[in-house]
Amino acid sequence: MRIEPVNATLGATVTGVDLEQPLSDADLAGLLRALGQYGVLCFPGQLIEAQALRDFSSRFGSLQMISSKSDINVPEVSILSNVVEGGRLIGTPDAGQDWHTDMTYNRVPGFVNVLVAHKVPMRDGKPLGGTAFTNTQAAYDDLPAEIKTQLANATALHDHNQFQELMRRKGSQRPPQTEAQLRARPPVSHPLFLTHPISGRKVIYVNPGFTARINELAPTESDDMLKYLYAHVMQPKYAYTHHWSVGDVLMWDHLGTWHCALADYAPHEFRLMKRCQVMADKVFDAPFLREKLLATA
Ligand code: SIN
Repeated sequence: MRIEPVNATLGATVTGVDLEQPLSDADLAGLLRALGQYGVLCFPGQLIEAQALRDFSSRFGSLQMISSKSDINVPEVSILSNVVEGGRLIGTPDAGQDWHTDMTYNRVPGFVNVLVAHKVPMRDGKPLGGTAFTNTQAAYDDLPAEIKTQLANATALHDHNQFQELMRRKGSQRPPQTEAQLRARPPVSHPLFLTHPISGRKVIYVNPGFTARINELAPTESDDMLKYLYAHVMQPKYAYTHHWSVGDVLMWDHLGTWHCALADYAPHEFRLMKRCQVMADKVFDAPFLREKLLATA
């Protein structure tokens, strides 16, 4: 397996591994280490089907079960797509189309997403529907020392419904959450500066999609601080955009990045991704990481 960085900020290309085959422990260790270092990993030319996507993804942690728009045979795989068949959308057409980090609203948050590109919209020979990323480990390093000190022990509240409502305000057809859905997913708190379990570096663990407030600050101070942190993280020096080709498998570390699916294509320009969402249960388990990371030390 070869892992080559594509950019000084984020991103690496992984070759010499066949994702249809079971992943060896040594390759798993190498990929974990690379996720902590490069954040976003692309495996080109691997048009794997849903079952192989699930088997590969499940090596990194528990998988989220998908309640709607999942693969017909593999309920851990969701379909992200604007393709219409028989008058119906086959997947979620606008998943992730604003800045966020997946599943920060869960007590056990998200660790990685793994997507396979089946259709990529093209215009004038150029791919559209890229995925943009920003590096929250590098952004933490550059914060002023007084902010690092002031917020060293702060926590932030994350609310699933905030992103739903943001997307609805932007015109999404997704329905409002029912009372039962809201009760099933109460907001949760996490440290504002999380220690990344692989790199050991601090990250800024708030995001515009799901973070409702910083618990220890008064409401207006919290709003101002979040605005400041978001503008800081969004600086172009921390940014990287992946432009997809059919057959790319892209996996990224949620703990040290934000992402945004770029909505720069029209309804008749088809995009089809299959996705697994992996929870950060195993990655915070010290024996799992020690054993895996030592394998490539
Ligand atoms: C997501 O937010 O998981 C979707 C990203 C994408 O489709 O590019």
